[in-house]
Amino acid sequence: MKITIIGAGNVGATLAQRLIERDFADVVLLDIIEGLPQGKALDIQQSAPILGFTHRILGTNRYEDTDGSDVVVVTSGIARKPGMTREELIKINAGIVSDVVAKTAQHSPDSIIITVANPVDALTYLALKASGFSRHRVFGLSGVLDSARFASFIAQELNVSATEVSCFVLGEHGQNMVVLPRLAKVKGQPLADLVPTTTIAALSQHTVGGGAEIVSLLKTSSAFYAPSAAILKMVLAVAQDKKELMPVAAYLTGEYGLSDVVIGVPVRLGKNGISEFVELELTFDEKEELAASAEAVRQQIASLPDQC
Ligand code: LAC
Repeated sequence: MKITIIGAGNVGATLAQRLIERDFADVVLLDIIEGLPQGKALDIQQSAPILGFTHRILGTNRYEDTDGSDVVVVTSGIARKPGMTREELIKINAGIVSDVVAKTAQHSPDSIIITVANPVDALTYLALKASGFSRHRVFGLSGVLDSARFASFIAQELNVSATEVSCFVLGEHGQNMVVLPRLAKVKGQPLADLVPTTTIAALSQHTVGGGAEIVSLLKTSSAFYAPSAAILKMVLAVAQDKKELMPVAAYLTGEYGLSDVVIGVPVRLGKNGISEFVELELTFDEKEELAASAEAVRQQIASLPDQC
């Protein structure tokens, strides 16, 4: 298997490390900055004798080296600075993503594209159009990360292991995120039976602001450890054809009553990308919240620069 990561920043390089240490695929790390992907790839490759992995990692500035990739993860783009929203990145990142995806589609016409740059929902829409691929093969990182944040906060609150928490976060990967506490369970028990509604509201709000909290602490970077772990989970579902259920930013054609928009919904991921769109039973209010979230993404899509 060959996996390309576009962008050798914090998310890209950490993902490269996570992937190569799993030792199931060769990894290509591409960036426009000369020396950066080569240096990081060399450094990672030199850990092979110590850690015992056998696959290769290549750092490059040339798309030719990405030829025939099975999965391409697009992390390139600028990250938020403290106080910025993900939406404020749209003009710059739209140009980067459309350029990168057009080249990716040319060099790896059978690949699955996973988008990461923000605002991820609108940019996944853009990537889908720029690639000309089917909607099953172009989707974005959102709900796996947001659900992991929600699960972490729940685990911390109840002093249990995060592995005992299951939950779903859908919708926009931004202020209009749809946290679904009703579906959250701890050791199989509904969260609502374990904590008061005020605590649930605080945990949900913490989740919505989870990315911004890290940006404000790091100051010069956005989060990358949990994001790269979330992408790893998505790539592994594809690589191992797991058909595993997880929320991703995907293009809808009528699911949840929504069309021609990308938002986070639960899907099954396998070797051909999205193998199934899963429609959870939502309450009236949850559906309204999801529709409002989709509307916010539609407005971002409408603001995409024309040349994209
Ligand atoms: C975050 C970025 C990846 O949520 O959007 O940290």
